[in-house]
Amino acid sequence: MKWPSHGSNPRYLYEAMNKEMPAERVDFSANINPLGPPQELKVRWNNLFEYITDYPDPHASHLKHILAAREGIKETQILVGNGGAELITLIGRMLAGKKVLIIQPAFSEYEEACRVNGCMVAYHQLDPETWELDMEALSLKLREADALFFCNPNNPTGVFYPSAIVKELIERCRVYNCMLVMDEAFYDFVEEYQSIIPIINSHLHVMVLRSMTKMFSIPGLRLGYLLANESLIESVSTLKPHWSVNALALKAGEWCLESEKHVQLTKKLIKQERERLAHFYRKLEFAVSPSSVNFYLLKDTKIDNQLPLFQFLLEKGIIPRHTMNFPGLEGEWLRFAIKGPNDNEKLMEAIKEWRKVR
Ligand SMILES: Cc1ncc(COP(=O)(O)O)c(C=O)c1O
Repeated sequence: MKWPSHGSNPRYLYEAMNKEMPAERVDFSANINPLGPPQELKVRWNNLFEYITDYPDPHASHLKHILAAREGIKETQILVGNGGAELITLIGRMLAGKKVLIIQPAFSEYEEACRVNGCMVAYHQLDPETWELDMEALSLKLREADALFFCNPNNPTGVFYPSAIVKELIERCRVYNCMLVMDEAFYDFVEEYQSIIPIINSHLHVMVLRSMTKMFSIPGLRLGYLLANESLIESVSTLKPHWSVNALALKAGEWCLESEKHVQLTKKLIKQERERLAHFYRKLEFAVSPSSVNFYLLKDTKIDNQLPLFQFLLEKGIIPRHTMNFPGLEGEWLRFAIKGPNDNEKLMEAIKEWRKVR
């Protein structure tokens, strides 16, 4: 059986598992803001129509202007992409033939993007007991690597590594002449987030990737950006198709960035639901990863492989994300997005039923 390589689009999962897809279902497999897009976008949605009759701005100037002011950097230190996914593809192309190290488990696109470009890919595996970063063990591998991919907050665990650890990592990468590609796709869900962005001015080997599709609930529109020093941005830009980011996404992105209230409301809701779920799971002897964001890993400690639980939930229309293609997890955990209270309630009901039979 071929497992779908990503969450979302559950039809493919049910097809692969040869199961009928229930009419009523809740998709926990994609980590998208349960509050949906911000009001700032919803109320102006119809105005987007006028933007389809002209080519999009290939330089995304206005959006970059807003981002630069927010991050305290120059517009020339930003590249806007058709989702973070496009930027990962371009970075893979830039690294063609190089030795790449990936801190695993992590988003599968890093490896895909590097392998199709003939990179040699090695892993540094996080310890599933703690998810801590063992700097010494990692350093041994950094010596051999041209680039390191690090997902922070980490997908799939949800663990956030604070700035002291990131700074240490940046320093080790400098010592070993290794480029650091840090993926902060979910940074805006972290309450105690501390920005390391100003570092890109003085550290020429650091790139930070962001996605706008998660917090602003616009994965269908596609929007992300890369922050790095000018020469790195220039190198990646030359690989990018001219109009790959459409005009609707650019304008919607500008409006989304006006929605600070929506971001704060989202963080509050996610924290509240994360704590409620963690409390519930602990009582039923499930292990939960120490997430700081809008998703987490779950394991029924009474079984090793979680496939029976996965199947049980799918039959009830509760759709987790499988972990078969996350090196080091391979089905020993399931990943769930944190949704709104009603949907989380449905999940907890299903888990209670599971516990009655197992
Ligand atoms: C860690 C991480 N980085 C990047 C992406 C790409 O996001 P997008 O292309 O929707 O911006 C994803 C999508 O799931 C992700 O999980």
